[in-house]
Amino acid sequence: MTTMESLIGLVNRIQRACTVLGDYGGGENTFSSLWEALPSVAVVGGQSSGKSSVLESIVGRDFLPRGSGIVTRRPLVLQLHKTEQSSHEYAEFLHLPRRRFTDFAMVRKEIEDETERVTGKTKQISPVPIQLSIYSPNVVNLTLIDLPGLTKVAVEGQPESIVQDIETMVRSYVEKPNCIILAISPANQDIATSDAIKLAREVDPTGERTFGVLTKLDLMDKGTNALDVLEGRSYKLQHPWVGVVNRSQADINRSVDMIVARRKESEYFATSPDYGHLASKMGSVYLAKLLSQHLESVIRARIPSITSLINKSIDELESEMNLLGRPIALDAGAQLYTILELCRAFDRIFKEHLDGGRPGGDR
Ligand code: GDP
Ligand code: NA
Ligand code: MG
Repeated sequence: MTTMESLIGLVNRIQRACTVLGDYGGGENTFSSLWEALPSVAVVGGQSSGKSSVLESIVGRDFLPRGSGIVTRRPLVLQLHKTEQSSHEYAEFLHLPRRRFTDFAMVRKEIEDETERVTGKTKQISPVPIQLSIYSPNVVNLTLIDLPGLTKVAVEGQPESIVQDIETMVRSYVEKPNCIILAISPANQDIATSDAIKLAREVDPTGERTFGVLTKLDLMDKGTNALDVLEGRSYKLQHPWVGVVNRSQADINRSVDMIVARRKESEYFATSPDYGHLASKMGSVYLAKLLSQHLESVIRARIPSITSLINKSIDELESEMNLLGRPIALDAGAQLYTILELCRAFDRIFKEHLDGGRPGGDR
């Protein structure tokens, strides 16, 4: 692994440890500010615009509930941890800490069950996130957040307030300055009506942390294309628009797997009379690469502030550990210690490799 990869990996693990601790501590504390200082990626868009599908193809595994209507009803905080090349892929939920999932169909089932545990078998939503970590040699270190889709009307079984509740929930994630926004719009609807773009424009007017993703290119009316959007003429963002073709509902029903779907997607672009000239800058694989490059540059730029926050956390953690002595809640004590160790590791790697040996921060 490169130094940058190990730093991003550490950032990821610090975020995860902070989340665990948040469960015990709760509220605003050093750990929530540390969490928020670290970048994450959230998907926003209208219902059934393809958010969960885009996330799945970035990860390269089938594991998210998808489909028509309101399927994603709680935020899913998904942490990808890159592991050694020879290691086995597995997933772990925060609410089931000692269970390793190797069957990703079971991961999907657990997300569905855990959603229902809080919301019941209803069409209601809950802001309480589900936390999932995937450990794999085939992912990039990244925190991704899947969110319920923005809607315009409540349907049968939903309270009238749901439209506003969903928007408030989504906004609470994307308004954070360190949140990278994946704004998902379906190509078979007018971009001027895109809920994703509307919200992204409000919270990120300069477009510096918004990535526009256009899904469902394969479902556009014959004789039309999305070049005005993809080439930035309809709505210009600082980052290039990326078009994707995810699996259709029919593909999902036929269990078309991820590898086949990716191959079909790249064939689609390579052979398209409209998009052939853009083929190398389209598709989910390209999107994943673009995101991890961006994340890397964001972390690089933020290293001074992350380091000083980490140093502050180390100081606070050390005094908290001293106070605790023998931890009352064993798990909380262990988590504090984990964060402390991770912060120290971050600081050490940063000093050794990126800072040319100069002392970081102002401890
Ligand atoms: P979400 O509600 O925004 O999370 O959307 P989902 O990912 O659950 O997708 C909603 C539906 O649209 C599913 O039936 C998907 O199969 C379908 N879908 C998503 N993206 C595409 C696409 O690019 N092309 C086609 N044909 N269908 C898609
Ligand atoms: Na949906
Ligand atoms: Mg979804």
